[in-house]
Amino acid sequence: MTASIIDGKAFAEGLRARVAREVAALKAEKGLTPGLAVVLVGDDPASQVYVRSKTRQTHDAGMAGFDHRLPANAAEADVLAVVERLNRDAAVHGILVQLPLPAHIASSRIIAAIDPAKDVDGLSAVNAGRLVQAPAGPLDFPVACTPLGCLMLLKDSLGSLSGADAVVVGRSVLVGKPMAQLLVREDCTVTMAHSRTRDLPGLCRRADILVAATGRAEMVKGDWVKPGATVIDVGITRIAGADGKQRLVGDVAFAAAREVARAITPVPGGVGPMTVACLLHNTLQAARRSIGLGPAVL
Ligand code: GUN
Repeated sequence: MTASIIDGKAFAEGLRARVAREVAALKAEKGLTPGLAVVLVGDDPASQVYVRSKTRQTHDAGMAGFDHRLPANAAEADVLAVVERLNRDAAVHGILVQLPLPAHIASSRIIAAIDPAKDVDGLSAVNAGRLVQAPAGPLDFPVACTPLGCLMLLKDSLGSLSGADAVVVGRSVLVGKPMAQLLVREDCTVTMAHSRTRDLPGLCRRADILVAATGRAEMVKGDWVKPGATVIDVGITRIAGADGKQRLVGDVAFAAAREVARAITPVPGGVGPMTVACLLHNTLQAARRSIGLGPAVL
């Protein structure tokens, strides 16, 4: 079997267009413009690229974007002061502090300072806890953008996920843990695997849904994939190809996995574009909640 390609780029474009339509309606009907503030500390080149892309897409969706840049040597108190100002700013409905932060700043303290209503990354203890406790049905709080995007792609590809055996490889706060919770809510039987898991290949081979979020290039081999499985590859790593040129690869050995799976996300063009689209989605929903409206169905 050669897997079909799950086109995250196209799905994300569609989602951004639906968000933009809802933003326009919110402006016209309620006079409210959703606002997203992005805080970048330091000059990590990859983070700068991400932040530029977030800012451009925020404006393209008709939202207000507020960029806050602090030098790499900024004190934790300086970052906290920016977050507290944004918490009080009525024009700001979403706050994202770009991670990773410089080592001298405790990201846990910064994230804890963000008003949970504006925590469009879904990383605060309040929103992570809500995800654990929320009953089935629409989510009325922000959920971490990358796993939310993965879930949208899975549901678009498979329809119901109910009863599926799902394996999530990687247990990060940003991806693995919220991904597992989202899959439990969809009635999957979920196993979280990580660097200490015994017989990881054998475990992965049992998965109807395999989500790889380890950050280790091409770690998941083709013969780890169950025939007919749906594979979601969250990784993105730049490596030197055989021809000496740089190329982007995921956490899954794509060419081999594609021969076994039913459907698979490519890298690039799979999960990556979904993250920013879901950030815009979360910001729109946060703005709607700020005036007592329920979530827009997108
Ligand atoms: N750095 C890489 N991905 C993310 C993300 O989803 N949110 C934040 N805040 N920082 C990131």
